[in-house]
Amino acid sequence: MNKQRMPAVVVRETGKKGDWNELSIEEVPLPQVKQDEVIVQVHACSVNRADLLQRRGLYPPPLGASSIMGLDFAGTITEVGSNVEGWEPWAKVFGITAGGGYGRYVAVPAAHLVPIPANLSFVDAAAAAEVFFTAFLNIFLEAMIESGETLLIHGGGSGVGTAAIQLARAAAVRVIVTAGSEDKLQRCLELGAAHGINYKEQDFAAEVLELTEGRGVDVILDWIGASYLEKHLRILKTRGRLVLIGLMGGTRTEIQLPVVLTKRLRIIGSVLRSQSDKEKAALVRAFTDWVLPLLESGKVRPVVDRVFPIDKVEEAHQYMLAGEHFGKLVLTW
Ligand SMILES: NC(=O)c1ccc[n+]([C@@H]2O[C@H](COP(=O)([O-])OP(=O)(O)OC[C@H]3O[C@@H](n4cnc5c(N)ncnc54)[C@H](OP(=O)(O)O)[C@@H]3O)[C@@H](O)[C@H]2O)c1
Repeated sequence: MNKQRMPAVVVRETGKKGDWNELSIEEVPLPQVKQDEVIVQVHACSVNRADLLQRRGLYPPPLGASSIMGLDFAGTITEVGSNVEGWEPWAKVFGITAGGGYGRYVAVPAAHLVPIPANLSFVDAAAAAEVFFTAFLNIFLEAMIESGETLLIHGGGSGVGTAAIQLARAAAVRVIVTAGSEDKLQRCLELGAAHGINYKEQDFAAEVLELTEGRGVDVILDWIGASYLEKHLRILKTRGRLVLIGLMGGTRTEIQLPVVLTKRLRIIGSVLRSQSDKEKAALVRAFTDWVLPLLESGKVRPVVDRVFPIDKVEEAHQYMLAGEHFGKLVLTW
């Protein structure tokens, strides 16, 4: 390999937004280390739902981020910036990034690194990164859920869902999930969910009210958005929190505002990727204190559905699109 270049998954854009652009592995410039950064040789990264949008030109990277896809990585440090203390070459690390995970090497601020615990492989660590960060940030830091409260998670069998069920359960939160098949619901119960609702066959809002004796839930982790909003406001308790992290069910809707007022609800929008370096550094510190020990002890575990070699990235994206997966899809070099 030319020392100044590296292989990476590259999107061949047609220029038309929404097209299913082709992916190919090509030689691109190696990222250059800045003084507060390290270079990580990536051994594994995961596929996230957002990647499917990015390849179609519908989710561009934030200003200053790598244009290479990939929101997480697990690998070994190969180079350390001049201001970095506490990290050495060969250390095994994982974490989140606003872009670049699908490259063989990625530049990451040292303050965003998490050490890979001895009980996790590179594949496990890649599977944990984006989704455990997302679940932790939104359930605990944004919604400030407390033990004994009830949480509704849609798509419990997703990457984010499988992480959220386990983290909530570890904090003695009662979890209700939805999923689109009986098999996925069963597996969510095994991960720690108390109740499962098949959203394709049942009215989830009516089921939630029945399961909670009409009281509703304290927190909803929502990436459906518009099509569920009216129901969500209806099934939230007084002072309930809705954390909106995606829009798979549409972007526009109309609601009656009195319910927000009278129940003193909070609707919180949250995107991990566009947080500033400083915000991410604070999040990484909190994650290292709270979530890393749970991963280390095996109390929570990333759920890996399937591992694909990086040259099968198209297959991995098609598999996610088909929606049969439970947990994470991981790409390896
Ligand atoms: N804002 C952020 O910072 C952030 C960060 C990470 C992820 N996200 C978002 O979180 C979501 C999950 O990401 P992922 O990578 O874990 O995706 P994923 O594994 O592909 O999962 C998508 C899930 O959505 C569920 N779903 C689809 N339509 C549904 C509906 N109408 N009702 C209930 N569930 C439905 C699916 O359930 P079934 O398969 O059971 O049908 C599936 O489990 C995505 O929207 C992603 O963009 C946001």
